[in-house]
Amino acid sequence: MKVGILGSGEVAKTLAGGFLQHGHEVMLGTRTPAKLADWATAHPKASIASFSEAASFGEVVVLAVKGTAAVDALRAAGTAALAGKPVIDVTNPIADAPPVNGVLRFFTTLEESLLERLQREFVDVRFVKAFNSVGHGGMVNPSFSGGKPTMFICGNDAAAKQLVTGILDQFGWGTADMGKAEAARAIEPLCMLWCIPGFLHNEWRHAFKLLT
Ligand SMILES: NC(=O)c1ccc[n+]([C@@H]2O[C@H](COP(=O)([O-])OP(=O)(O)OC[C@H]3O[C@@H](n4cnc5c(N)ncnc54)[C@H](OP(=O)(O)O)[C@@H]3O)[C@@H](O)[C@H]2O)c1
Repeated sequence: MKVGILGSGEVAKTLAGGFLQHGHEVMLGTRTPAKLADWATAHPKASIASFSEAASFGEVVVLAVKGTAAVDALRAAGTAALAGKPVIDVTNPIADAPPVNGVLRFFTTLEESLLERLQREFVDVRFVKAFNSVGHGGMVNPSFSGGKPTMFICGNDAAAKQLVTGILDQFGWGTADMGKAEAARAIEPLCMLWCIPGFLHNEWRHAFKLLT
C-alpha cells in the first residue's frame, strides 16, 4: 500500500519504518522537512513532503502529530486529499500542562474524544483510532514476555477497521475492535494509564493485553 504519514516525530518515524519493513511505500508529511534529513538519509526508500502531498499520496493516511495540532494538520493536509480515505489516528489529546502525580492531563472530556472531534469536522474521512495506547518503541513487531499484546481500535467504518486490523496483524498485534467513534472516549485515556509507570518509576516497556 501507499502510506502517507502526517508527522515528523518519533511515532511518525517509527511507524514509517514499520511500514517500509513490511513492504509498503511511505511518504512523510511535515511543515519542516529539514527535521527529517537524517532519518531520510537512513531510509532512502521513503520520501519527505508536505502534509498535503503526503495525504494525497496515501491510500491510507496516518495522523501522527501533536494532539493539540491534529485539526490544523488535517486542515493543512486538505479535505479533498483526505476524503474517503482510511486515516489511522494515533494522536492523544494531551494538554499543554504537566502531569499530576504521573497522570497526564487531556484537553478533551469523557463525553467527547479527540477522534470524535476530528470525525465531526472531517465527515468524509474514515478515521480509525489505533496505536495510541503504547509507546512508540513498542509499536512495530512488539516483543513482550507476556505474549502478543492487544491494540484497541475503534471507528465508524467497518472496512477501514478491517484494513487497520490487517496492518496490526502484520506489525505483530492482536486487535480488539471496541466499536464506533465514541469508544475513543475510553481508548484515548489508555495513554494516561500506559504513561503512569513511566512518569512514576521510569518504566516505559509494557503494553496492554485483553484476556478472555
Ligand atoms: N511518543 C509516543 O510514544 C506516542 C505513543 C502513542 C501516541 N502518541 C501520540 O502520537 C502523536 C505524535 O507523537 P510524537 O511524540 O511522535 O510527536 P509530537 O512531538 O507529539 O508531534 C510532533 C508533530 O506534531 C506536528 N505539529 C506540532 N505543532 C503543530 C502545528 N501547530 N501545526 C501542525 N503540526 C504541528 C509537528 O509538525 P512538523 O513536522 O511540521 O514539525 C510534528 O510532525 C501525539 O499525538 C502523541 O500523543 C505518541
